Amino acid sequence: MRSLRTALSLASLVTGALMLFTAPAAHAADTPLRDLGAAKGKIVGTAVTGSKLTGTYGDIAGTQFSSLTPGNAMKWESVEPTQGSFNWTEADQIVAFAEAHDQQVRGHTLVWHSQNPSWLTNGSWTSAQLRSLLQNHISTEVGHYKGRIAAWDVVNEPFNEDGTYRSSLWYNGLGADYMADALTWAHAADPAAKLYINDYNVEGVNAKSTALYNLVKSLKDRGVPIDGVGLQAHLILGQVPSTLQQNIQRFADLGVDVAITELDVRMALPADSAKLAQQAADYKSVVAACVAVARCVNVTVWGFADSDSWVPGTFPGYGAATPYDDNYAPKPAYYSIAEALGGTTTPPPTDGCTAAYGVTNQWSTGFTGEVRISCSGGSLSSWKVNWTYGAGQQVTQAWNATCTQSGAAVTCTNASYNGTVPDGGSVTFGFNGSWSGSNPVPTVTLG
Ligand code: XIL
Repeated sequence: MRSLRTALSLASLVTGALMLFTAPAAHAADTPLRDLGAAKGKIVGTAVTGSKLTGTYGDIAGTQFSSLTPGNAMKWESVEPTQGSFNWTEADQIVAFAEAHDQQVRGHTLVWHSQNPSWLTNGSWTSAQLRSLLQNHISTEVGHYKGRIAAWDVVNEPFNEDGTYRSSLWYNGLGADYMADALTWAHAADPAAKLYINDYNVEGVNAKSTALYNLVKSLKDRGVPIDGVGLQAHLILGQVPSTLQQNIQRFADLGVDVAITELDVRMALPADSAKLAQQAADYKSVVAACVAVARCVNVTVWGFADSDSWVPGTFPGYGAATPYDDNYAPKPAYYSIAEALGGTTTPPPTDGCTAAYGVTNQWSTGFTGEVRISCSGGSLSSWKVNWTYGAGQQVTQAWNATCTQSGAAVTCTNASYNGTVPDGGSVTFGFNGSWSGSNPVPTVTLG
């Protein structure tokens, strides 16, 4: 095969003939995640950015998920940037989108040490003033969305890693009872909403999750309205806690719901196929742990696409943490989530589509290439083509596709107007590249 390929690559230089290599094409599982989840009694959610809810992003958010969480839009600094002047624009838009797509909304978040407006954090308040500010904030925001929010992350991140309470504006000013008060005020403003305490590094059984367990138990004993715990699950590749299911189960046994509220699995960049396979296994084990416990009601990913993830900005050198890539193509993690929810579609059928690479013109330092995607006995609604250059070639410009190159790895995805390849049809895209020494034809994969 290799010698045939080399021979043909020479021929292609001369004649412009195209090389043919068959490979699977990526498209999403036939059954959306939300429907797979529903069959298991699970809500499947994603964090979203309101301004992005159109086009492909809006299509995926609306069709694949049954719950949305505003990634930032409901935080105090977003809704009340200046004291007394409220901005609900983005949050309203997300709630309206969710209602139009028959989705739940997880409200996030009411009491937190972070992303508070500077007028609040820079003010000097008596404890009575602080308490009244918090009560007003909760009554106003929960009241604004009364009847439209399935669950509120009322309290966010109250603990240190050792299980002691985090020093914060709220804890320092009001003591630990700020949490009971916040829950009580939220319940008064919307009695139908499920009320949660949400934190990170509480996925496995450890000092922090045990502190959360003890807090929830004491709140329940006191009759404070608490319905659930949120396990954020911002995980590192290969580090799903082995006690995840056991931990979910102990909260369920305490009589509260559990939600995986902010799932992502970050990896050191660049991603490669081994890391993406490990990530798929990690996502699968998290979703499977939720599926195994009846009171685990919701699995939400913290952004569904790598291009919309907080990870690269927060953890330098890390990324690729979500189930869809930068171009909204599903990654192995997407299929593993589907499998954990009982779906049967593993990386998609090849359906008789192939991609072929050819060099159509070449000069001293540059060349023009073309890739043809052809279907016979199948069809595509979107496509992505990958190859790895073996001799330092560099794509400099592409047309009729969006191409990115990272090191030797090139990825090209369809333009908005040529994603469809009908049975018996083909589409082509072209590019210019630079070369020196040699310009061997790479193996192309469609997938
Ligand atoms: C993150 C957002 O995704 C970012 O856009 C923002 O800059 C910082 O906050 N735990 C939480 C979320 O509860 O609100 C955080 O969201 C991620 C960590």
